[in-house]
Amino acid sequence: MPDPRPAPMTVPRIRASKRRDGNDPLVMVTAYDAPGARIADAAGVDLILVGDSVGNNVLGYRDSLQVTIGDMVHHTAAVARAEPAPLVVGDLPWLSYHLDAADTVRNAAALIRAGAGAVKLEGGRIRVPMVEALVATEIPVMGHLGLTPQSVHAMGGYRVQGKGDVAAEALAADAKALAAAGCFAIVLEGIPEALGASLTELLDVPTIGIGAGPACDGQVLVLHDLLGLNGVTPKFVRRYADLAAVATEAVAAYAADVRSGAFPSDAESYH
Ligand code: KIV
Repeated sequence: MPDPRPAPMTVPRIRASKRRDGNDPLVMVTAYDAPGARIADAAGVDLILVGDSVGNNVLGYRDSLQVTIGDMVHHTAAVARAEPAPLVVGDLPWLSYHLDAADTVRNAAALIRAGAGAVKLEGGRIRVPMVEALVATEIPVMGHLGLTPQSVHAMGGYRVQGKGDVAAEALAADAKALAAAGCFAIVLEGIPEALGASLTELLDVPTIGIGAGPACDGQVLVLHDLLGLNGVTPKFVRRYADLAAVATEAVAAYAADVRSGAFPSDAESYH
């Protein structure tokens, strides 16, 4: 009997997914645990990003800078245990790839051993030695340019990047350098739509946008944002459900039933 599950997504298939070659847009979503991974898998996405946004979305931090490689290993392993068909990309957290190439490879290897099929890191030309070291140890790397949340202090807040010719040219040089160093795809976050389009045109590897316009080769959203589990969301988020309201209503109904004696009923008791 044929296996009804789709074949696991691979890095070479993602790398070959430029829209200009007639491919469908890539779909990536974050997940931080096994239930999230099962939802993303059942929905048929191409990639699951175990993002360091776990810090803001699950762990209660203000930003992602508090997230450690230990946290990322823990959450990557939880996602991988769901055995999803989408490619699992483990995010390298702040300070896990900034010191030297050996440290970077050790940290990335921990994510691979936890079940990721690739890792992601933020930054441009300055990261080329780290990307080359990862590629040399057979670890596929996704780049991340533009509004890179780990640079929140250096950027002076979460601000749109790449505005104006000089900044746009710098991002183009960064994107070309990452692709030449061996990144198989590049996330573009928080940049003008026209720049998202021109970087996508410039690169032979796919771009995956978040707040980077519709011309990218794919899109990524944070699961908790699209499900309506977060209060305030950035302008580029589209909410596809309001699960916070649904969940609050369900818990309130349970609380009312307990208080009125309606739960548990006879059917919900052992005899
Ligand atoms: O950590 C994350 O969720 C990300 C995406 C926003 C691209 O890096």
